Amino acid sequence: MDFQAKGHGKLIYEGRALQCIQLSVAYQSHRFNMRSFVLPFTSVLILANLSVAFPIAGLHPGSLEGFKDAVLSLSAGGSAICITGTVAVNVSTSTNEKLHFGEPSSQFAVTETFVEFLSVNSSLQTRVYGGDASVSGTFNINAKLCYPVGWSAKKSSKAIQFLIHGIGFDKSYWDFAKQYSYIDAAAAAGYPTFSYDRLGTGASDHPNPIQVVQSSLQVEIAHSLIQSLRAGRFGSQKFDYVVGVGHSFGSIQFIGITATYPKDLDAVILTGFSLNTNGLGLTFADFNLAIASQNQPLRFANLPSGYLVTGSSISNQFAFFRYPQFDPRVFAQDESTKQTVTFGEIFTVTKPIVPAEYFTGPVDVVIGEFDMIFCQANCTEPSDQSVMVQPALYPAASNGSQAYIVPGAGHAINLHLEANKAFAQIQGFVKVNGF
Ligand SMILES: *[C@@H]1O[C@H](CO)[C@@H](O)[C@H](O)[C@H]1NC(C)=O
Ligand SMILES: *[C@@H]1O[C@H](CO)[C@@H](O)[C@H](O)[C@H]1NC(C)=O
Ligand SMILES: *[C@@H]1O[C@H](CO)[C@@H](O)[C@H](O)[C@H]1NC(C)=O
Ligand SMILES: *[C@@H]1O[C@H](CO)[C@@H](O)[C@H](O)[C@H]1NC(C)=O
Repeated sequence: MDFQAKGHGKLIYEGRALQCIQLSVAYQSHRFNMRSFVLPFTSVLILANLSVAFPIAGLHPGSLEGFKDAVLSLSAGGSAICITGTVAVNVSTSTNEKLHFGEPSSQFAVTETFVEFLSVNSSLQTRVYGGDASVSGTFNINAKLCYPVGWSAKKSSKAIQFLIHGIGFDKSYWDFAKQYSYIDAAAAAGYPTFSYDRLGTGASDHPNPIQVVQSSLQVEIAHSLIQSLRAGRFGSQKFDYVVGVGHSFGSIQFIGITATYPKDLDAVILTGFSLNTNGLGLTFADFNLAIASQNQPLRFANLPSGYLVTGSSISNQFAFFRYPQFDPRVFAQDESTKQTVTFGEIFTVTKPIVPAEYFTGPVDVVIGEFDMIFCQANCTEPSDQSVMVQPALYPAASNGSQAYIVPGAGHAINLHLEANKAFAQIQGFVKVNGF
């Protein structure tokens, strides 16, 4: 190997041992190209669990501008080179909800809240909602900007795909494992991606889970990040087009963004979402939401009790998966990395859903055939649920809009054996619309 990493920058790889191996395989396949790369970074990647020094910095085309504690890594399948780091987002909203709801004192209190939430003629919401509240602050968001390997800003498309994950996940949903990486699929189609841990998940800040971490603030954070990408604040790279790709609650945030800021996105893809809410009550019952610090003490010991996780792997399977259309190892990895949701988000989860009358770009709606949460496990009953979203929420959408039911998949599409079908449909939609 005649590649030489200079300097002393230490990059700690955040991934798992499995990915480390894929990383070295991907590196091997690029070693010949590396000589021709300019080497803007002089860092050595230290693989956390293998303690092998390993240089990938030469694969990276851009700058680390805008990221604090930046780490370079390859995507799960090796098609993208990514900067992961913290970005500070200064936002405010006047439409958070004042909630008359205190920090739950015990798991009994949490479970009782869901009993009352789901009880017939429940008055819980009238008791809890207290009107608009203003929240502002500067929040640290852990984000990941990925470029296709070999990408050059001058030659390549100037569209970036901006990804927002759903409840139960963090940004790893988009790069879950080899063959299950949306980021790899986008990179293979020529697109950079930007993904991040929603406020209150992963390595992002975890502020007050009741009054602060709510839908409206999440929408403002996404809006601010999109503006920053357009302005070139991350990696010194401006993007002329931003294509939004959401999953589930991430799709709901995009509905809010396209309604409030119709010029933010040039195209929007809503996955794991439909207008059918028949399965939502079943879902909240099934989730068996548990206080995160008690359910996962090794991971979430310090979080206040308004941070919740699904109670067990059985809850997880019921809501997110369709058996046998998944690899049990992917399922196990999901359960062991499951992420939090807050009471603030649960009480405001549908708030961003209003028609985006002024959004004129194309819309793609992609849903698993057996999605429990948004179709009560049958997205063709009483007729195709995916085709109903655009006419109802996007009356001015361009005629390049599409809809697709992913055969066989459940709610967490990217974690099913059919993930590649969804990835291919979405990249085709983006390309045919000219981005
Ligand atoms: C955040 O933005 C507001 C208004 O846009 C400004 O007044 C405030 O100084 C900013 N705070 C930080 C920490 O940048
Ligand atoms: C719900 O409450 C309303 C009055 O607030 C009542 O008219 C209605 O019958 C109740 N429905 C059920 C299913 O109990
Ligand atoms: C889903 O609903 C459709 C329409 O009612 C029905 O024809 C189909 O058999 C259902 N699918 C399953 C797997 O039950
Ligand atoms: C879509 O709209 C464009 C013009 O805005 C038009 O040229 C094209 O024929 C339309 N396509 C369809 C399938 O309606």
